[in-house]
Amino acid sequence: VSARDEAASERAASGWWRLRLEAPAAALEAALDLLASPPCRGTWSRPAGSDAALEPPAHAATAYEIEAWFEAATLPPGLADALTGHGARLLDWSPAPDRDWLEDYRRSARPVLIGRFLLDPREPADALADGDPADGVERLLLPARSAFGTGSHETTRLMVEELLETEVDGRRVLDVGTGTGVLAFVAVGLGATWVVGLDVDPVAALLAAQNAALNRIPVALLAGGVDALDPSALFELVLVNVLPENLAGREPSIARHVAPGGELLVSGVLAERSAGIADRWASLGLEPVSARALGEWTLLRMRRR
Ligand SMILES: C[S@@+](CC[C@H](N)C(=O)[O-])C[C@H]1O[C@@H](n2cnc3c(N)ncnc32)[C@H](O)[C@@H]1O
Repeated sequence: VSARDEAASERAASGWWRLRLEAPAAALEAALDLLASPPCRGTWSRPAGSDAALEPPAHAATAYEIEAWFEAATLPPGLADALTGHGARLLDWSPAPDRDWLEDYRRSARPVLIGRFLLDPREPADALADGDPADGVERLLLPARSAFGTGSHETTRLMVEELLETEVDGRRVLDVGTGTGVLAFVAVGLGATWVVGLDVDPVAALLAAQNAALNRIPVALLAGGVDALDPSALFELVLVNVLPENLAGREPSIARHVAPGGELLVSGVLAERSAGIADRWASLGLEPVSARALGEWTLLRMRRR
């Protein structure tokens, strides 16, 4: 692969360069690993021949098309050889067209049914144009914006699946890292009496509040970290779908909100790190009860002694 038109780099509206390649399913992970560091700034993959964003594990394809976006006009030495060495086929290296990522994401977002909850990331008008969902199905409008939690990610799915098997009715629930508010809304749908969601990203907290109003779901939503809560506030169920490194040592502050006999569900844990993460929570008085796995992700269920 070589830059076909050096001068075009100046004309690239976005200032970015794009590598397109196709990888057999067995080589997808290796290819994405090779593209996981600078100057590659992001990748976008989809089953070859489809226009939908990759939403594991719904699609099991034999080959995937990957777009990788670079800040530099030359590929790092050895990268092309490493990619082809894993069986990838390089298709194109060219100045990247200017692209509205959020618009692309919105266009490709599809509703996801988990148990009886239909998580719908489409614009509300488009979602509602479908008419009422099937009997017994509860639609949650979660229009794709910049907040995480529209249902397509494994860490969200793990949480919703686990909540469906959890005693939520009549419990007080704290949702740490609420994103779109999705887990808080599911908890209300499952009969929680009082639900608090918080997020350190004020935009996410704002979007969650908008989503709560859109779905007419009563949830208390706060912008801020768990330290903003009254330390004596207790919840029978605490949900944490936050990458451990983003918790920034806040585990003790979170653990103190789990009521005696109450449960903590932690998602966002990479399988290979789950034992260490479980130990960390155990040292705070939370006993491991069970784990649920999906792809490379694990969810841990723990109970306060
Ligand atoms: C992976 S998303 C989860 C969103 C949603 N709860 C879900 O399950 O799909 C993690 C969210 O946690 C927020 N976050 C990151 N660190 C946090 C922290 N220390 N305290 C609270 N929220 C945090 C992020 O802003 C992000 O919205």
